[in-house]
Amino acid sequence: MSATTYVHCGQLVTLAGPSVRAGETLQEVTTIADGAFTVEAGKFSWVGRSDEVTDSYAINLQNALVTPGLVDAHTHTVFGGDRVEEFGWRCAGKSYQEIASLGGGIHSTVAQTRDCNIGHSTKQNQTRLVRAGTTTFETKTGYGLDVEVELEHLGAANQGIGTISRTWLPAHAIPKKHSGHPANFIREIIDGLPAAFAAGAESVDAFIEPGYFSEAVVTSYLEAAKQLGFKIRLHVDQLGDHGGAAFAAEIGATTADHLEHTSEDGIRAMADAGVMPVLLPASVFGLGLNRYPNARQMIEAGLPLVLASDFNPGSSPCCSLPFVMSLACRMMKLTPEEALNSCTINAAASLGLAGQKGSIEVGKDADFVCWPYKDYRELAYWFGDVMPSRLFIAGKEFELT
Ligand code: NIG
Ligand code: FE
Repeated sequence: MSATTYVHCGQLVTLAGPSVRAGETLQEVTTIADGAFTVEAGKFSWVGRSDEVTDSYAINLQNALVTPGLVDAHTHTVFGGDRVEEFGWRCAGKSYQEIASLGGGIHSTVAQTRDCNIGHSTKQNQTRLVRAGTTTFETKTGYGLDVEVELEHLGAANQGIGTISRTWLPAHAIPKKHSGHPANFIREIIDGLPAAFAAGAESVDAFIEPGYFSEAVVTSYLEAAKQLGFKIRLHVDQLGDHGGAAFAAEIGATTADHLEHTSEDGIRAMADAGVMPVLLPASVFGLGLNRYPNARQMIEAGLPLVLASDFNPGSSPCCSLPFVMSLACRMMKLTPEEALNSCTINAAASLGLAGQKGSIEVGKDADFVCWPYKDYRELAYWFGDVMPSRLFIAGKEFELT
């Protein structure tokens, strides 16, 4: 296979360095002015400066800002429909829990998902992520709430766009037929675990919150999943501090996600156990709340932060990691450097993909994005219209329009 060289990246953000960032949130961003690189067989084979290139067929990237493809470590893309109806209720001041009790929330999406062409809707949802600059994403099921349907949704999650890592999330809400008896549903999904693993799910997740699932009720499920080789990612401490971070540490989770209400003790437990925090500021914004996770305290505790969109029709109808970075810098006081590291290399590490994704380094997959800017800080500085000008996955250009 022939090599293609790209020249004149006004600023080439390589994020080069050690590929596993366990134990820290990087404070720096490695860049090359007037950068260049070569792609061979879908991977970066050389990275340097344009003045080192002699190839007269090199493709001119016209001084674009070039970054690695963004990595979104927490999304819910397997759904149909929307929650526009309840958006009005939210604007009128109703809480997430009140909306759920009025017939909105996750169950409303479950009903709409049942009536849609799930392959088609999922593809549309995932295309939105990619068009905003994401080339690798984790995606969860969770709008089937039935073993058979949740397994089908694992299949639908694989639309062949970008690189995906699939997480099985039947424990997203208690299905109506098991209302008041979550343990009965948990028994059913334990039986479904081998099929979910065979279908390619890498992780399992559970929404641990009053009214959804308790730690006590999900423990047997998570232990069974671990035995089968699943990794664990958990929704915890989103709406209150219920000790979810400490639970994630105890059960050996790879990530604990949300953490808006996590205490200092919870943060310490995560640091001791090596659980990566996945912060989702767009869901705080989406719910019209103002309590963001305490990112600075997590960084001080030595945790490697991950930022993700939480793209879903309820709390976070947001597919843009640049918007997430923008929120993280303004509302959680991250530096633009910390924010960019958190949704590239750290996010890749949280998915076990630090060796392939998240930076522009020789041997890694040639996923890269051109942006109409000069400086990587602009990705977080502007908001509302930050979109790539060109995007490549494994060296192949993705049609953005
Ligand atoms: O991460 N909290 C649970 N799951 C999603 C919301 C899902 C929904 O409302 O449809 C979240 O915020
Ligand atoms: Fe979520």
